[in-house]
Amino acid sequence: MEAREQWGTRAGFILAAVGSAVGLGNIWRFPYVAYENGGGAFFIPYLFALLTAGIPLLIMEFTMGHKYRGSAPLSYARMNKKTEWIGWWQVAIAFVISTYYAVIIAWAMAYTYFAVGQQWGEDTGGFLMADYLQRVDIVNGADIGSVGSIVPGVFIPLILVWVITLGVLFKGVKKGIEVANRIFIPTLLVMFLLIVIRALTLEGASLGLETFFKPNWSEIMSPGVWVAAYGQIFFSLSIAFAIMITYSSYLPKKADINNNAFIAGFSNSSVELLAGFGIFATLGFMATTAGSSIEEVAAGGIGLAFVVFPQILNSFPGFNGLFGVLFFGSLVFAGLSSLISIVETFVAGVQEKFKVSRTKAVILGGGLSAIISVLFATQGGLFFLDAADYFINTFGIALAGLVSVITISWFVKKLKPFQEHANATSDLRTGLWWRVCLGVVTPIVLGYMFIMNLINNLQNNYEGYPTSFLLYSGWAVAIGAIILGFIFASLKWGEKDLEVPAYSEEKGENAK
Ligand code: ALA
Repeated sequence: MEAREQWGTRAGFILAAVGSAVGLGNIWRFPYVAYENGGGAFFIPYLFALLTAGIPLLIMEFTMGHKYRGSAPLSYARMNKKTEWIGWWQVAIAFVISTYYAVIIAWAMAYTYFAVGQQWGEDTGGFLMADYLQRVDIVNGADIGSVGSIVPGVFIPLILVWVITLGVLFKGVKKGIEVANRIFIPTLLVMFLLIVIRALTLEGASLGLETFFKPNWSEIMSPGVWVAAYGQIFFSLSIAFAIMITYSSYLPKKADINNNAFIAGFSNSSVELLAGFGIFATLGFMATTAGSSIEEVAAGGIGLAFVVFPQILNSFPGFNGLFGVLFFGSLVFAGLSSLISIVETFVAGVQEKFKVSRTKAVILGGGLSAIISVLFATQGGLFFLDAADYFINTFGIALAGLVSVITISWFVKKLKPFQEHANATSDLRTGLWWRVCLGVVTPIVLGYMFIMNLINNLQNNYEGYPTSFLLYSGWAVAIGAIILGFIFASLKWGEKDLEVPAYSEEKGENAK
């Protein structure tokens, strides 16, 4: 096996981890999820999820990668051969995410271009669905589940997304991923700060912030709010889908695991909060200029970034094009640095198990994901994307998180040794709270969430989509990821593969 690559510097690793965490989930997803789930009241479940599950799991995944020095499947196999399937399952989840995540970045790229001169016109909703995505039901009158033809406006930027992502991955950890993040993350922060500062100085901004922060205490007791908070934390911190194990497997011997996890976790949440400020300040501006309420102008998911935001940009007092480019450009940079980390999970997995070079693994793994992603660049793609995203989050990430904490704390009983491993090289030492969070609190909350979600989805079709469509585009995807986990885990490793390789002297001494 080739000698394991390492990050060049501590900052390089932290930037890459933050680059992975900060993504479409922060700018596109968080503001609306927070708003929809009780505004200010959302912060209590959100903070609870961050402190009891997000950061403890991040520490656990950093420890696993660092201790076993392998991709997620290899790290799980080295921990205990019987748990390898969990690593492959997480890799399969990452694979599914990569296929549609790339497409959302492609939309953002196209919108960065449309922002110049606000080419979306006055009816931004109609522009997105009919003119840009050419949705199969609107344009052809076809049913949900029909694929239609490839949409060139999505397909062309999608090629660019894959060329950049795979190009970075070909170059490896230090020369590719680390260098890309050193460029993407500072660029993203500058662009994003400019737009947030502008947003906060708009007329009506305070009205938006008030809505965002006004606690809705009646909602805090609703299980749905807690489910949303945990879902957001997991997706946003890139945990339970193989990424952080893979990234930390390239750490040098003396890495401060605990501190790095806190830095990555808090940086991610800071960007998320900034995104919340920015989006809601602009919604306040929009409501004020339109003379309506925030509730009337706020919309979810795709709508918030690709419908409402263009509408707001139309009425910006000046430099509309520039701020549009800054906003959609931020989405592109945030998305690319996350996509790189998502694809790296299966590049590393394939490379190690099938003993192929990085180049071959990138062509095989990345190439397959790129081919499948074309499905989401068709006229019917939006529905497939929506179903895959929902099911892989609900019955993929959250469930894999649950299975991994239960396995590690209760079955293979590794919490204590992991804690000792992390504490040995960290300035900041974790105590009993860490084991209680992972061994007791998180399994209870995630277990409850899983049961609630299962009942809910068996009783009601997600978004009212037809059952047959949900079966093959949602359930099959989530269950398929588990089956793939078992299939890949059943393949044999080489004789020495499950031994943890030693650090080479000169490399092991990198700064923490
Ligand atoms: N953590 C990445 C995001 O937030 C996947 O988008």
